Amino acid sequence: MALWKLLLACLHQVDALDNGLGLLPQMGYNTWNDFECEGVSAKNISKVADKMVELGLPALGYEYLIIDDCWADHRGKDGKLVPDRNAFPHGMKHVADYVHSKGLKFGIYMDRGRWTCAGRPGSQGYEEVDAKTFVSWGADYVKTDSCNGPDSLEDPPSAAAIAQYQLFRDALNATGRPVFLALSGWHNWYSPYGESLANSWRIGYDVRNWQSAWNFAIRVNGFLSDFGGPGRWNDPDMLVGSSSKTAVQMTPQQSRTQFSLWSVMAAPLLLGSMLSMGHHDLETYTNTEVIAVDQDPLGIQGEIVWENCPLRKRTNIKQSQFYDEIPACQQVWARPITDGFAIVLLNLDAEKPANVSFAVSDVCWSSQAFVGKPCNFFEEASVRDLWRKEHLGIRKFINVTLARDGASQMFKIKPIIPQAPHTSAKKKTPASTATGHRPKSRHREPVSSHFSVALETDAVHFLQQPDEL
Ligand code: GLA
Repeated sequence: MALWKLLLACLHQVDALDNGLGLLPQMGYNTWNDFECEGVSAKNISKVADKMVELGLPALGYEYLIIDDCWADHRGKDGKLVPDRNAFPHGMKHVADYVHSKGLKFGIYMDRGRWTCAGRPGSQGYEEVDAKTFVSWGADYVKTDSCNGPDSLEDPPSAAAIAQYQLFRDALNATGRPVFLALSGWHNWYSPYGESLANSWRIGYDVRNWQSAWNFAIRVNGFLSDFGGPGRWNDPDMLVGSSSKTAVQMTPQQSRTQFSLWSVMAAPLLLGSMLSMGHHDLETYTNTEVIAVDQDPLGIQGEIVWENCPLRKRTNIKQSQFYDEIPACQQVWARPITDGFAIVLLNLDAEKPANVSFAVSDVCWSSQAFVGKPCNFFEEASVRDLWRKEHLGIRKFINVTLARDGASQMFKIKPIIPQAPHTSAKKKTPASTATGHRPKSRHREPVSSHFSVALETDAVHFLQQPDEL
């Protein structure tokens, strides 16, 4: 066995993060897309907290207010991180207390390396001190970034990166305070290890527009659903929105699509703009029916059940920094939820609208809920449009015309189960769009066994191979 495999196998013996948190994907707000390093201050955090309450967001589940990079100035003589004194004149506990007084939870950013991505002091060698400091401030959530640490890029999966994340995880565990831990390593190779390290883990680089949403999230996350579940979530990064004052922007329809897709992916819902949020984005982020999909207690991450996009394999997406043009094609994503399925039909074609027709029975192609059952178990379903908020009656097919450039529609379907289930093997009803393909139906392991077999899964193995594109 190669040395690194042995090392990782040993590392796996260490206790996992056990804070009982994150049974549903986290929801809240993060300062990075809004402020980057300009304006991360106590004053603005108070404004954000006030705005979140004014908009009624905490009641919808948006509970964390997370301060991202650029708050730390230096380390004091006692080794503790000192916040920028101009921006946080009364220290960080004061800010956390204000956030808590508004009924919100307080989140803070750190980096496992020597410096953060924006060049502020990192936590390498100070894991214990920093964990205690954050807890003394009343932190409920920590985002741990991956810049300037032992490398994770050249030899993934990086035992050094994993060991370093474990140090901070253990330091946090030792404090005794349940703190949500969000790992930000920007690579899909973290997914098989994520469960032992954190409550959520980033699967790619920053999503800042539609192109990066495709590249670092949409084309990647469909392969990672086995690793997500209650307490452990794949994180395709923050919600971008269409009303930010910075260059981090999507069109209104792409931003709505991002919200729908993220909900079907059981992804964290972290808002990236607040003070400048426009009406359209607010309407998007407060759609309780879509939020309910994201927060469905089954916690099953959705998958692509039909597409006519060029075939990708996990081998093709191993490098999350590889920049892939958005293909001119369509996809259908589905997620089993407590009372049926949520479905998103998506047009990635930047130039042309598209008609998509989808047989409702096709949702069972990759659904855990239907493993071992014939795929024609049901043929009809009661269909609800989650954006128009309309019941569409009982349907065999969903036919839609999708505008170009990232438009989508989202439905919830409740299968109509025949009284006497079919016993004869009927031919599967095909989706009526002729040129598409479905992913192979896969047998799934029980979720709890994923980690123990992680070293043998192709999710890890393929990452060792040269690019097969
Ligand atoms: C990385 C992360 C971002 C943000 C910045 C801060 O790029 O991926 O989400 O935290 O660092 O510097």
